[in-house]
Amino acid sequence: MVRLKTMTRARIISSLDEMQQVAEEVRLSGRRIGVVPTMGFLHAGHQSLIRVARDRTDLAITTVFVNPAQFAPGEDYEKYPRDFERDRILAEEAGTDVVFHPEAQQMYPHDYQTFVEVATMTKVLEGKSRPTHFRGVTTVVTKLLHLTKPHVAVFGQKDAQQAVAVKQMVRDLNLDVEIIVAPIVRERDGLALSSRNIYLLPHERNDAPVLYESLQLAERMIEAGERNSKNLISAMSSLIEWKKSTAIDYISIADAERLEELDTLRPGNKVLVSLAVMVGKTRLIDNSIYTV
Ligand code: PAJ
Repeated sequence: MVRLKTMTRARIISSLDEMQQVAEEVRLSGRRIGVVPTMGFLHAGHQSLIRVARDRTDLAITTVFVNPAQFAPGEDYEKYPRDFERDRILAEEAGTDVVFHPEAQQMYPHDYQTFVEVATMTKVLEGKSRPTHFRGVTTVVTKLLHLTKPHVAVFGQKDAQQAVAVKQMVRDLNLDVEIIVAPIVRERDGLALSSRNIYLLPHERNDAPVLYESLQLAERMIEAGERNSKNLISAMSSLIEWKKSTAIDYISIADAERLEELDTLRPGNKVLVSLAVMVGKTRLIDNSIYTV
């Protein structure tokens, strides 16, 4: 779809009713809606998703909402970086038509009690260290889908398990929306862009590209014929442990759709190599998918 318009100011919506009305009108006029759910503090990774929504649909909606339901007590909900004016500008620059920015009290009034949970695949990987996280994600994504009524919703491969869980939920609940998963956007040195990268101290920032380097090492080993997951994981661990500020939470080699661990890679396997590493006090995640 070719868009002739240059950058225009996006419409800012914070009311839930107004969001649903606008979405309904756009649908009735026969136009297609694309949504990009975010927690704000946008970067080029988020912008790449907004461009996908803009290119594939007639109305791109970016949602900016730091979702309390996906943070456990003691996680960084309170100090999660927030800068709405900056987000508005970056979302507009990427071509969003609407920025939906609801308030937590509207999304979760005091008598709120309904949650959406993908049962099995959310218990592994990120779900092991963050047991209530995905229930919060799938709940808010369901709410955002009902509020913005999109034809297409765009997620990033950066959060691989989130993308798989959202797809599972959409299938299981017959939600009428197409889920698109867009590639990971990285810094020049390979570090995956993340709103949390701003927490890194200078020496931690220097160590952080090792996550991507370890994924590249695994890729080279798989290409050279390595099929044993233990060997891949141990090579990745050694490389990461070399950097002083790091502490590995997990390294996983799993089926890319079911997220079940694979001991041995077999021809035709679509493999998700994923990892979570503390770099100083900041927990970073990264991943790659390989077809064996
Ligand atoms: P957030 O972390 O803000 O990420 C919003 C979207 O941007 C997610 O789909 C994420 O995978 C994608 N993204 C983040 N970094 C990226 C990168 N470097 N390259 C490409 N895409 C990237 O994920 C969430 O928010 C929340 O869990 C949410 C889905 C909004 C529900 O609250």
